[in-house]
Amino acid sequence: MHFPAPEILDYCEQHSTPLNEILQQLERETHLKTLAPQMLTGPVQGAFLRLLSKLLQPKLIVEIGTFTGYSALCLAEGLQPEGQLHTIEIDEELLRFGEKYFPLAGMQNRIKQHLGDARELLPLLPDGFDLVFIDADKPSYPIYYEICLKKMKPGAVLLADNVLWSGKVLEEEERLKDEDASALHAFNQMVQKDERVENFLLPLRDGLMMVKKL
Ligand SMILES: C[S@@+](CC[C@H](N)C(=O)[O-])C[C@H]1O[C@@H](n2cnc3c(N)ncnc32)[C@H](O)[C@@H]1O
Repeated sequence: MHFPAPEILDYCEQHSTPLNEILQQLERETHLKTLAPQMLTGPVQGAFLRLLSKLLQPKLIVEIGTFTGYSALCLAEGLQPEGQLHTIEIDEELLRFGEKYFPLAGMQNRIKQHLGDARELLPLLPDGFDLVFIDADKPSYPIYYEICLKKMKPGAVLLADNVLWSGKVLEEEERLKDEDASALHAFNQMVQKDERVENFLLPLRDGLMMVKKL
């Protein structure tokens, strides 16, 4: 299942404020030097994350799953002047992308990289999250959600990426074959029933669950 059609995405990109040249360089280097470059958020969702962050003007952003730092750079653009983005990544080799590109974008003092398992590191971060982006291992989404929700301010926003999993969450047969599809379907149901939040599943790229803490 492919949605939306690539030509629709191209049209959307052509009619959105362009992302900066640093992000284009980072996207090229990610394609050259990593084995799964499709994990990078990309220009359409990146522009969406940037605009949402600018609308919310967060002081404290937390990202789970840095990869090469593309979404971190998009989200950081909306930070308040003294704001900070904490991003957690388990793969040490990926840290050098941030070490190179965060300074190039002038974000070296605003983005803090953490190396390790987010399940262990998240509880150690300060409370008062304004904006959260969950984009790491799918079976752990409920764990990340619970920890973050407790640390979020009322009114804060949480985003969880890939919740449609190429449409596989819809089909029971797919869910039986694919552990991630099954975990994401359970996560979507859990959020839907959660009375502590208001939510909307945005069919952008691979599905973005948007959650506001009440
Ligand atoms: C889809 S990629 C993130 C993409 C990135 N947010 C972006 O849009 O450019 C997922 C990342 O999560 C990392 N990851 C997986 N399990 C993790 C864990 N338990 N703790 C921290 N990071 C993890 C992976 O190494 C991978 O780099």
